[in-house]
Amino acid sequence: MEQKLITIAIDGHSSCGKSTMAKALARRIGYAYIDTGAMYRAVTLYCLEHDMIKGDEVNKPRLRRHMPKIEITFQVNAEGKSETYLNGRNVEHEIRGMEVSNKVSLVSAIGFVRRAMVAQQQAMGRNKGIVMDGRDIGTVVFPDAELKVFVTASAEVRAQRRYQELQSKGDTSTTFEEVLANVVERDRIDSTRKESPLRQAPDALLLDNSHLTLDEQDQWLYEEFVQRTKG
Ligand code: DC
Repeated sequence: MEQKLITIAIDGHSSCGKSTMAKALARRIGYAYIDTGAMYRAVTLYCLEHDMIKGDEVNKPRLRRHMPKIEITFQVNAEGKSETYLNGRNVEHEIRGMEVSNKVSLVSAIGFVRRAMVAQQQAMGRNKGIVMDGRDIGTVVFPDAELKVFVTASAEVRAQRRYQELQSKGDTSTTFEEVLANVVERDRIDSTRKESPLRQAPDALLLDNSHLTLDEQDQWLYEEFVQRTKG
């Protein structure tokens, strides 16, 4: 019997390992994986490259005019990893740096940016069989998703994880305190913004992974998936 395809929405705070767990599940069950944070990051990179951000101000009229020219796509590389492309250019590395991280909350709080991204995300998930991670997937993008998870962990644990990630990528100039401040500030902006603030959907499962190993959380998520797809 053919297994039924479902939509899986993974939301939660920044740097809590959402994408690691979403990717691992997608690989295990043969679903497509979409990192929606990467889409907001790519728009932010575009703004920076076109000089549209001054301090904490985004030039919205200019960005609005440019929106139709911003195309974000994903391609799987030779190692089987999904990478982000901005107008045909691989930007996977650039969008993870601190410059983009420090500005992305400003760009992702803009209504017309969100509407454009949500429409693209809904088109990508039209045929189900998708694992999507972000902030508003279970609340706005796919409110009917069959499996919704809201992931969180303490700010210190999340900052430690991102700090280690930066170090392993050769960034030795960013301190732990800077990373922690960025995590705390992004939590504040993400959960207090007017447009689609970060919140747990009423029917989402809450997962605090501060004290879970990767294997434990992967197995937990897989079992939730199996429960929802068995005949
Ligand atoms: O998951 P991430 O850290 O790569 O996300 C980058 C930023 O984009 C983060 O500040 C929140 C925002 N975001 C959003 O507003 N909605 C999404 N669906 C995904 C990310």
